[in-house]
Amino acid sequence: MTRLFPSPASPLELAVIIPVLNEADNLAPLIERIDAALDGIVWEALIVDDNSPDGTASRARLMARSDPRVRIVQRIGRRGLSSAVIEGMLASAAPVLAVIDGDLQHDETLLPKLYWAVAEQGNDLAVGTRYQEGGSTGDWDASRERMSRFATALSRRLLKAEMSDPMSGFFAVRRDVVEAAMPHLSSIGFKILMDLVASSPTRLKIAELPYTFRNRLHGTSKFDARVAQEFAILLLEKMFGRFLPVRFLMFAMVGSLGLVVHLAVLGGGIAATLPFQFAQSLAVAVAMTGNFFLNNSLTFRDMRLRGASLWRGLASFYAVGLVGAIGNVGVGAVVYRLEGIWWLAGLAGVAVGVVWNYAASSVVTWRVKR
Ligand code: GDD
Ligand code: MN
Repeated sequence: MTRLFPSPASPLELAVIIPVLNEADNLAPLIERIDAALDGIVWEALIVDDNSPDGTASRARLMARSDPRVRIVQRIGRRGLSSAVIEGMLASAAPVLAVIDGDLQHDETLLPKLYWAVAEQGNDLAVGTRYQEGGSTGDWDASRERMSRFATALSRRLLKAEMSDPMSGFFAVRRDVVEAAMPHLSSIGFKILMDLVASSPTRLKIAELPYTFRNRLHGTSKFDARVAQEFAILLLEKMFGRFLPVRFLMFAMVGSLGLVVHLAVLGGGIAATLPFQFAQSLAVAVAMTGNFFLNNSLTFRDMRLRGASLWRGLASFYAVGLVGAIGNVGVGAVVYRLEGIWWLAGLAGVAVGVVWNYAASSVVTWRVKR
């Protein structure tokens, strides 16, 4: 019988996933150090680049050409640390998957220990931690340090993740653990480790290994307001996502804010002795326009409209809202006729209106892909 796949002398043991965005100058020294650190382990590196303008991908290909252990996944038109890591994991066949930053801030000499903790010591997951005896955040400034500690405490409380450093981006995990969590992952934002632990159907056996977070030599951190915002959304999703999509919750929250704006404008108009109809129309216009821009930068931030499509989007948002208002009043009237309770009828109308507006605007205005 012929064998299709001759078994190699040494099968692949570990894939090192390296998410990168503008890290061209860090790649070569990183691979060199990983190679030295993983002496005796059969490894491959998956560099996942989100089409960095600094030429990170071509630099990676240059290395890959002379060293087949180095591979590259280049994503076009997408951003996100977590989703990059997941795609790197999916592109590898290794039984153990490690994740390390591409900017030399994580101490690669910890990699073999992370690997052994999973491959040989029966752990599901091994995490490099900065917050234990022997670990440290290096010289992060006080405000970044405070922010990190706050987020750590928050996620420990909310997710019941028994880890000293749930925000760590440096860890190794068994492939089947990732596969079990995969259908439940949010893949939003920066915190893939937290996502993995919170999405695992079983309680994981976790090892923690201390290391010192290094300073950056080249390039800049991608941590910004958007990363912080996505962290908040990830937390929300992990807490309430089972019941309602977080996007819908945000849409409804923006809607309630719109109601406040509406009443304020209406009240102001009446106080300024405008005729009711005029003040009411003004209030509708102001509230709807405000809601559109808030939803555009918050609720649908990942498909944010810009330029000409922004104004087209606004027009379609008005149209969707108009239909929603008709449905709202119609349903309200029916409930009122049947039950005769004004507030129940009002709430029923609003509920139908919100669900309609959410569903229709996510299809028509923002064109959410499913
Ligand atoms: N592909 C891809 N796409 N890579 C990204 C993206 C993205 O959208 N954003 C950031 N990266 C890459 C960076 O190039 C870097 O290699 C790594 O992800 C971490 O990003 P930094 O911008 O350097 O983050 P940091 O230093 O502030 O924080 C990191 O270290 C912390 C401590 O372990 C992150 O990994 C945190 O998650 C981690 O807690
Ligand atoms: Mn960094």
